Amino acid sequence: MKLVKLLANLGYGSRKEVQRLIRSGAVTDTAGNVLGENDVPPHDQILFRGEPLDPPAPLVIMLHKPDGYTCSSEDPGSTIYDLLPPRFAQRNPGLNPIGRLDKDTTGLLLMTDDGKLLHKIIHPKSECHKVYHAELDRPLEGHEGGLFASGTLVLNNENRPLLPAKLEVLGEKEALVTLHEGRYHQVRRMFAAAGNHVLGLRRISIGGLKLPDDLEAGDWRELTPDERQAVFTQPTEDP
Ligand code: URA
Repeated sequence: MKLVKLLANLGYGSRKEVQRLIRSGAVTDTAGNVLGENDVPPHDQILFRGEPLDPPAPLVIMLHKPDGYTCSSEDPGSTIYDLLPPRFAQRNPGLNPIGRLDKDTTGLLLMTDDGKLLHKIIHPKSECHKVYHAELDRPLEGHEGGLFASGTLVLNNENRPLLPAKLEVLGEKEALVTLHEGRYHQVRRMFAAAGNHVLGLRRISIGGLKLPDDLEAGDWRELTPDERQAVFTQPTEDP
């Protein structure tokens, strides 16, 4: 791909702006040679103002979503895109969340510009199980695990039952829930159906990929090849 198109697709500016930047000498190779509009060096040998270029498509990142950010580019309030370099919102193809989290849900959020991968991960057939840690308003009563696992639970305003989900009780008002699908406010509505209320919700894993302990709320990074693989493996027993 020619340099102008590459940089425009990565969000460095419109084609015109990028052309201007290239002509001004802002883009060099790692040996310090100024690059021209039609040059096509390997991605990892291109520097923009001395810095390596953003990663090329297809890109997959993980974000530790904090409370109070919506998974949308449209919202007038704070959005997950505010947590990424501003250029990322201008990328083509665009970077989208793989399964949204509610504004007040925290934890592991994957984002990609690869539509096929996105659909593969969210499709129940891929069995990329999502595990949520829920803090509840009231003590668990004992019937919730059976209800969630039944495969017959129908949420308010829906007519298709939920796929069986797993509940692991961690404490009187604390549990892990494993989902195989992603419906709107699903965990909150499941506990509402069981007569409880979710006070805090955090996604801790997707497939075999856990939210890393060293990824602080608000931080993000690109997935390693091993982590991409891990999404399609089963979670281990100690999520
Ligand atoms: N279930 C919810 O209720 N909210 C989320 O953000 C994710 C799953």
